[in-house]
Amino acid sequence: PDKENGIVYDITAQKGKTEIYKGVQTETYGYNGSFLGPVIRINKGDTVKFRTNNNLTEATTFHWHGLDVPGVGDGGPHQLLQPGETKEVEFTVNQQASTLWFHPHPEGATAEQVYKGLAGLIYVEDNNSKNLGLPDDYGTNDFPLVFQDRQFNEDKQFDYKAVRNQDGTIGDTMLVNGTLDPKLTVGKEKVRLRLLNGSNARNYTFKLNTGDSFKQIATDGGFLNKPTEISEITLTPGERAEIIVDFSNLDASSDIALINEDDTILLPFKIDEQKTNSIKIQETLNNYVVTEEEKNLPVTKELELFGMGKMVYINDKQFDMNRIDFTQKQGETEIWEIYNKPDMMGGMTHPFHIHGTQFKIVSIDGKEPPVSLQGWKDTVAIESGQTIKLAVKFNNKGIYMFHCHVLEHEENGMMGQVEVL
Ligand code: C2O
Ligand code: CU
Ligand code: CU
Repeated sequence: PDKENGIVYDITAQKGKTEIYKGVQTETYGYNGSFLGPVIRINKGDTVKFRTNNNLTEATTFHWHGLDVPGVGDGGPHQLLQPGETKEVEFTVNQQASTLWFHPHPEGATAEQVYKGLAGLIYVEDNNSKNLGLPDDYGTNDFPLVFQDRQFNEDKQFDYKAVRNQDGTIGDTMLVNGTLDPKLTVGKEKVRLRLLNGSNARNYTFKLNTGDSFKQIATDGGFLNKPTEISEITLTPGERAEIIVDFSNLDASSDIALINEDDTILLPFKIDEQKTNSIKIQETLNNYVVTEEEKNLPVTKELELFGMGKMVYINDKQFDMNRIDFTQKQGETEIWEIYNKPDMMGGMTHPFHIHGTQFKIVSIDGKEPPVSLQGWKDTVAIESGQTIKLAVKFNNKGIYMFHCHVLEHEENGMMGQVEVL
């Protein structure tokens, strides 16, 4: 940040060339660099200014995924920046510690711009997060990990249009923080991994190849109430989770790696035996609760997700920039009931995301959500046939998008708008 003029962050979308494969320059997009973006750190209570610049040769927007921000600054498709244009967004950070992210959102080009490399992270800190005893030494025991699959052509370039899949573009090559064949060096100690599924469409189920468990400490929008022992966690596009892996408990003589559901390696670790810490994490991290009142509120918004490929709908409609689908009062909690209607093929999971808010999952098919989902969320996977109830409250006014975070579904119209009045 440039602290001379208050807390100002300059964020520039630009084109670049990145050496992803040794000796080869791949044409990429990035924020303040050639590929991906910086971590923006903001603190609860601070008034911050994002000065956004578009140095691309096409229009873009700057969307803050998970940030509680007035609609005019949300960076949805309405807030387009033409090439060369600069816009400032000023707001007071009014949400708890969490790992958020940012990416473009121009109508019709979101999926392609993200695919080419536009994505960065936002860390929100607060008084609580600094006193939990969590590993927080960036790049030493606290790592951002952005998982993206990509398809390179023969020249090792991204040719998005050639590989675009209307049900979500996937690739055969895994990049972690934009790196091919990554390896992460960690100490024999407790390490915090901030996982972001930044892929256009692929889901990941993260687990350790050793079969050991780890602790989940956070969901999209804040800490879980307690570090929770789990052996795997699934993230659909847009979702985040923070986990603590205690490498001092793992057998360093074997190769340790984060793997996916199908056992493919996502991230191998290298253990630095010399590096240790004696971090003691607090037992209580948060005071998240779905209240009885929230559980008993009537459903006031019903959404039905349906379709595949180019024929994807929310309540039988496709996105129209000039249509407001719902209104909601600022500061009022409403229950959104979202049903993912199966089709003849069975249907697919849609990661459902709402801008400008963190919501609570009240129930999944009438049941309490698993512990991994008992925390603030902005994106939730809804499986085919499932009905999910969310308690949704907006603290700011303005127009916000809600959509499937399979970016090609979003692009194909699986998106609507709620105006907060
Ligand atoms: Cu990551 Cu419209 O969102
Ligand atoms: Cu978003
Ligand atoms: Cu979808």
